[in-house]
Amino acid sequence: MSAPPQAPDPQPALIELQDASRSVRLPDDSLLTILAGVNLTVQSGEHIGIVGRSGTGKSTLLNLLGLLDRPSDGAMLWAGTPVQRLSGRAAARIRGRDIGFVFQQFNLLPGRTALENVAAPLLYATGREFRRRKDIAAAMLDRLGLGHRLDELPTNLSGGEQQRVAIARALVRGPRVVLADEPTGALDVETGRMVMGMLDEATRESGSALITITHDPAIAMMAGRRFRLAGGRLHPGEAGHPGGSLHPAACGNAGVANAEEGA
Ligand SMILES: Nc1ncnc2c1ncn2[C@@H]1O[C@H](COP(=O)(O)OP(=O)(O)OP(=O)(O)O)[C@@H](O)[C@H]1O
Ligand SMILES: [Mg+2]
Repeated sequence: MSAPPQAPDPQPALIELQDASRSVRLPDDSLLTILAGVNLTVQSGEHIGIVGRSGTGKSTLLNLLGLLDRPSDGAMLWAGTPVQRLSGRAAARIRGRDIGFVFQQFNLLPGRTALENVAAPLLYATGREFRRRKDIAAAMLDRLGLGHRLDELPTNLSGGEQQRVAIARALVRGPRVVLADEPTGALDVETGRMVMGMLDEATRESGSALITITHDPAIAMMAGRRFRLAGGRLHPGEAGHPGGSLHPAACGNAGVANAEEGA
């Protein structure tokens, strides 16, 4: 007799990596394992910081979390759905609507104004969101202190201002998670911390989860939970800043790393 069907988890985690690995086949036919046996549970609204030296697989991990790539082994679930079951089109839809990306080099469209850059993701929206895209983009830029620079081209903006435009663009569709790959890497220390503070606050206000990958332990300390990536594995770090943005939703997380949090 077959087992009765299990009731679906009423509130699955936003993202779950279960023993996930990522390896690539090199030209000499050897296998390079970049990530091995990674377990990570990301709850809605929580902030996670990941530190690691260059080449430890940080961007590879972020590509998995952002549905740009899939694990070679193990599983990844997005809101309870195994990513293997998502078509390319479904993954693209989730990326456009639910995931915001912030990169080290800002990646703004060079010939477009700040307003046009931030409104760009809303070109894929529908209804009111599409019609009111310029107002929505302007309000988001205003929230990041750039309400007076709407019509500037990126070349006329400082690095810190460009990154704030990129953050506004990442947040403009109200994503469920923002993935930031070295968001302060191209900024001086003081500007980096200011911009990171804005990213932290804006995601907290919007209830988006935030996963920040950084070389800077001080930046990672702003997160509620921290990890260190080394040897292809994700190691739990000490808990983040006491005033950090650990959301109540994240507190009951039974993720592997949580078990060791606060060490
Ligand atoms: N498609 C690929 N083919 C071969 N090697 C790869 C591939 N993708 C990544 N790697 C290698 O895997 C390792 C991890 O790469 P990744 O870009 O994830 O590192 P990273 O931690 O983001 O580094 P950085 O801090 O310099 O950005 C590197 O040694 C890289 O050269
Ligand atoms: Mg990288």
